[in-house]
Amino acid sequence: MKIAVAGTGYVGLVTGACLAYKGHKVVCLDVDTNKIERLRSGDPVIYEAGLEEILHKCIADKTISFTTDYKEAYKDADAIFVGVGTPDKKDGSVNLSYINSVADQIAESLEKDALVIIKSTVPLGTSDRIESRINSNTKNGVKVELASNPEFLAQGTAVQNTLHPNRIIIGVKSAKSEKILQEIYKDFDAPKLVVKRHSAEMIKYASNDFLALKISYVNEIANLCELTGADIDEVTKGMGYDPRIGSSFLKAGTGYGGSCFPKDTKALHWMSNIRGHELKTVRAAIDVNEGQKLVLIKKAHHYFDNFKDVNIAVLGLTFKPGTDDLREAPSLSCIPYLLDDGAKIKAWDPVGEANFRKFYPNELTYCKTIEETLEEADICFIFTEWPEICNMDVKEFARRMKKPLVLDGRNCFKLKDIKDKGVLYLSIGRAPIKG
Ligand code: UDX
Repeated sequence: MKIAVAGTGYVGLVTGACLAYKGHKVVCLDVDTNKIERLRSGDPVIYEAGLEEILHKCIADKTISFTTDYKEAYKDADAIFVGVGTPDKKDGSVNLSYINSVADQIAESLEKDALVIIKSTVPLGTSDRIESRINSNTKNGVKVELASNPEFLAQGTAVQNTLHPNRIIIGVKSAKSEKILQEIYKDFDAPKLVVKRHSAEMIKYASNDFLALKISYVNEIANLCELTGADIDEVTKGMGYDPRIGSSFLKAGTGYGGSCFPKDTKALHWMSNIRGHELKTVRAAIDVNEGQKLVLIKKAHHYFDNFKDVNIAVLGLTFKPGTDDLREAPSLSCIPYLLDDGAKIKAWDPVGEANFRKFYPNELTYCKTIEETLEEADICFIFTEWPEICNMDVKEFARRMKKPLVLDGRNCFKLKDIKDKGVLYLSIGRAPIKG
């Protein structure tokens, strides 16, 4: 079976590489020539554990190839995965221009019937619309059928999640399409759920939004813990023993970010609104998260009226550890505010610096070590729970900072470990540690 994959972002590239790794013949397509060149040479372009090794193996085995020539990629493909971006627009709706242009290129290129499989997260009903769009433009009676096969990969563990998924959702309208997808996934050991296409599209949104809701709920409880003297770590541990709740995604912090939760909550809310059925719980999750991203600034304001000439150390820039992605990261909500207020910022991140420099090339000082970042700082903000931060010697705060006020947005340290270390330590949903 010849498989083409449109888009070499997180979804497309990881999907293509993992299918090739399982022995399929895969051609990955992108409009970005430079990216395709780099991929051909074995450079994975994105920072993702295990991807480089898989890529090298597949290139050596000749199971994967890369091209910018869509006609070449699509003309005789049996299955075409679509993994291009579906960014959000200002009003929360989804920008489908990349999906539409892939659809038009498929219609223009196909010389035989094929299955087009949407991996990207798309609004409900998109499979129907894209199927009509392609079929009304194909030549010589060529017909496609659409399938919805959402991905659930998380950045940093994308390869692992794709090779060992907890479920494979097969959203199809015919037995023929199901057969092709069953064949593609035959060597994947995971429950396969065959559903209607609309259900598959909804499963993706409903899953992501549920997780976002869970995080916002726990963040609200954490904020209440601070007011009542309860400890969020103890509370979530107690909650997590209940199998109906589960212990994952109960980590309180300074809000969720990334390429999915913020976008998918806004999109589902928008889709429900235009159908006259507002999803109030999802709206609440979005609002709570926006507030939560600024929670460390609010805490800092208890000690500083403004941040003019205040020396600030920032540890962690990315939206979570294990990725260089900054999309919707709390650092990007807080740092602009601090800069506008006149703060002097030094920042450290093991892999996020290059991307952050694209937004702020000269406005802050980028440091190579945590220690250098802390030197002479009045406040330290922690936005990402990188292992280097969680495992650092907490005595470094008092040793290096001028006035050690540490605002930890990810609860990186156990309270007992930071006690008596000469810092004023404020975290999320836990008692402040003074001295
Ligand atoms: C997520 C989903 O996990 C994945 O299934 C989907 O396909 C894409 O979106 P990702 O955005 O890569 O993946 O990261 P994830 O690990 O889920 O974290 C998302 C955000 O939630 C991060 O900012 C993280 O810090 C935050 N988070 C996660 C919490 O604040 N608390 C938690 O308990 C878990």
